Amino acid sequence: MQELSLYQKLEEYSQSDYYPFHMPGHKRRLSGQLPDELFAMDITEIDGFDNLHQPEGIIQRAQQKAAELYGADETFYLVGGSTSGILSAVSAAVPEGGRLLMDRRSHRSVYHAAYIRNLEISYLYSDMLQDCHMCEAVGPETVEAAISPPHPSENPEGALDGAQGPLPDAVLITSPTYEGRLADVKRIAEFVHRKGIPLIVDEAHGAHLGFYRGFAMNSCQAGADLVIHSVHKTLPAMTQTALLHVNGDLIDRERLRRYLRIYQSSSPSYVLMASIENALDQVRQNRDVLFGRFSCSWRKMMEELSSCRYLQFLPYECNRQDIGKLVIIVRKTCLSGPQLYDILLKEYHLQPEMASTDYVLAMFTIGDTEEGFQRMTKALLEIDRSLDGCLLRGSGTENAGATGAVLRLRTACKIAVAWDGLRKLLPIRLCPGKIAGDFINLYPPGIPLTVPGEIYTEEMIKYIQDCYQSGLKVQGIVPKENELYLQTVEIAGERKGGV
Ligand SMILES: Cc1ncc(COP(=O)(O)O)c(C=O)c1O
Repeated sequence: MQELSLYQKLEEYSQSDYYPFHMPGHKRRLSGQLPDELFAMDITEIDGFDNLHQPEGIIQRAQQKAAELYGADETFYLVGGSTSGILSAVSAAVPEGGRLLMDRRSHRSVYHAAYIRNLEISYLYSDMLQDCHMCEAVGPETVEAAISPPHPSENPEGALDGAQGPLPDAVLITSPTYEGRLADVKRIAEFVHRKGIPLIVDEAHGAHLGFYRGFAMNSCQAGADLVIHSVHKTLPAMTQTALLHVNGDLIDRERLRRYLRIYQSSSPSYVLMASIENALDQVRQNRDVLFGRFSCSWRKMMEELSSCRYLQFLPYECNRQDIGKLVIIVRKTCLSGPQLYDILLKEYHLQPEMASTDYVLAMFTIGDTEEGFQRMTKALLEIDRSLDGCLLRGSGTENAGATGAVLRLRTACKIAVAWDGLRKLLPIRLCPGKIAGDFINLYPPGIPLTVPGEIYTEEMIKYIQDCYQSGLKVQGIVPKENELYLQTVEIAGERKGGV
């Protein structure tokens, strides 16, 4: 007999006469204005429904199916988004106070892991993509240079492995990036493994990778030790659903399980877990049709948009630029990213994912309809035509245009020291030279511009002001009486030193 999926079992249970003398408090019925069906299936760890934190039955089998689909040794369902997977992965891979070599353009959850575990972090910086102030994914050469010993001529005393500093306990990269840039994960994995170090890939935006011909392989297939996928971002699953995959023997699995228990709720939602299984079942059963249709609509849209004279688009390239991320570059127009975003939203009722000063990002997945593709195509063609005769945007936004870029700052102390320090709110003009006491993020994408413990420079201050003035959503600044304020911190016995 075919085994029931989590969803089918929940549905069957919701129609049974079992009476719930257990949580949740709505007792599967008091739904208020929300649909009854949502509540009817919202249960806790009752008999026959297994336990995410010690799976032995239906959840264990669902996780095994997910591992097979992605080619992972072992897979864990997550109900706290990739955020919970990243916190757990970093905590399991790096001992307390240990060293993490990480992408400077990491999602803030990586920084939060570094904070909680009091890590010593050093950064991997990526190159800029020409013409649109956007960063590439981290390149293999960058990882190799950060880990390899310097040439003897640079270090006459003789360099051993890690002579630039001790070897990190783990390396973390992001691929695809928020804008869809892909890293050469295979080469990076091979290199870090030669050093005996595990590779963590934040593949939150790549849960669909490897599922269709022409797509880049996913990072499990490419040899990474820990891979995190937000199922909710690029597959048809509910918000907060994600997966953590583990491969090889560099990661202590018991420790990983421990951190998953620590960072995730002890009452994980069955509706969310069923939604993960449901999304992956759709892929398993129907991937050629779903991704085939999607690729076809995408190609058609890109072909039509190639007639634009002013708006530019990042082309899909199998191992460099992911399919589904429509990056609309406005550098050759009189519009800024936020202005184009507003036009799409207010005039066409199309809600993009985010705006930078130089580009707007719209996300497409197998969940999109033909109508969705057509509406976006038509809107962009119309907007492009309306730009005839419009003067190019001035160069005043050059600096803020670098929202996808990273300005390098010196680090005075660990994140944990600065974030827990005695903080002082100062007017932004007084901040150059001071130590940052908080994160400053553009949201989305949630990648920090400054990290607690970094030293503000004049350039960074101008950059923050430009971002704010050009209408981007800047978190971590306090606007007060016509002035911006930033959190600063003073560290006794401050340890200066750059990264
Ligand atoms: C690169 C990256 N990693 C991790 C996350 C966190 O994912 P989640 O929202 O599933 O917790 C995000 C969220 O936007 C992200 O962009």
